[in-house]
Parts: sequence; C-alpha cells; structure tokens
Amino acid sequence: LKLGVLASGRGSNLQAVLDAIDAGRLDAQVVMVISNRQDALALERAATRGIPAIHLPPSEYPQRTDYDRKAAELLKGVGADALLLAGYLRLITSELLEAFPQRIINIHPALLPAFPGLHVHRQAIDYGVRFSGCTVHFVDEGLDSGPIILQAVVPVQQDDNEDTLAARILKEEHRILPEALQLMAEGRLRIEGRRVLIQ
Ligand code: GRF
Repeated sequence: LKLGVLASGRGSNLQAVLDAIDAGRLDAQVVMVISNRQDALALERAATRGIPAIHLPPSEYPQRTDYDRKAAELLKGVGADALLLAGYLRLITSELLEAFPQRIINIHPALLPAFPGLHVHRQAIDYGVRFSGCTVHFVDEGLDSGPIILQAVVPVQQDDNEDTLAARILKEEHRILPEALQLMAEGRLRIEGRRVLIQ
C-alpha cells in the first residue's frame, strides 16, 4: 500500500501508522504527507523520516476543488494508491474522491453514525452516552458518513472531561487504524452498498 496522508495537526495517528510499519504489522509505505497548516506536527514527523512533507496553504487556492486537484496531483506524482485522512480538519471534494475511488480512509473519534463533525468528545459527554469510541471508515461525499471498516468501543466515565475521554479513545484509534490499513493492504475489504465486508 502506498499511502498518501492529509493531516492538520499533531499527527499521532500518522505516527501510529509509521510505528506499525516499522514493527512489521503494516505492509505499507507513507509516500507523502500534506497539511493545510504549516505548523502541523504531522509534517515534522514525516520530514524527520525523510518522507516528503508538504504545506499546501489554502489561502493560495480559494476554491476547495483547486486545492484538492493540486493535492491529488502531488500525491499521484509520488505514486500514492490510497489516501489517509489523519486528523484532517477539512472536507474533501470530488477531485480527491475521484482520484482515489474507494481508496480514502478516515479516522473519527466516535462511534459513527453518532457524533459526526467537530467537538466530538464534548458532544458525547453532553449527550450522556455510557460508551463512545472510534471509527475507521471509507470517505464519501458526506461528513463522516462513508462505509465503516472497524470500530472500537470505549467507556465514558462520570468524571470524564473532553481531554480524559479523548485520551482513552485515542489509544484505540492508534490500534484500529493500522489494523484497518493492513486489511486494505491485503485487499480484504469489499464495499457492498453501505457495508464493508472483510474477507
Ligand atoms: C483524532 O482524534 C482523530 O480521530 C480526529 O482528529 C484527531 C487527530 O489526532 N479526526 P492526531 O493528529 O492523529 O494526533
């Protein structure tokens, strides 16, 4: 699997992927990391490993489709055959969806379809759910709406705040994301309508 990565921030999920590759648990290569933010730690994590790390400033591409066309061109240029959104805080457009059909994966820190979008842990705590978790899913046109590959369940405790809940969930993100990518690398994921069958 030749993975391109889009990330906006800290990049701990990117790091989990790189660690899984090093440990021989994931048969993949990260070929490029692109960020909309110059100060994204994700870029630094990539650069220290000699992975092309590119800051693509949205201000230079007023149209999101132009931005995504450029990103797709850069990713294709280094041979990416799948795309991982690892804490990427923008919606992607058809330019990327069409460049990587059924080959874009996102990690979301809730049990979808509950709590899509932003401020996810706040939503979960305020709603009063006893369990939350994380979801690795294929990306479609919608917001956190594509076919689900893997999920992990995490208890919500009465004294949780956003940070404590986020930390408990993040551990599981770091576990199931490389697992899902490995299934993809092995060609074991088949999308059937809304469902993903693991073969
Ligand atoms: C993670 O919680 C991910 O699920 C969400 O944004 C966060 C990114 O964290 N989409 P990191 O940048 O991978 O550390």
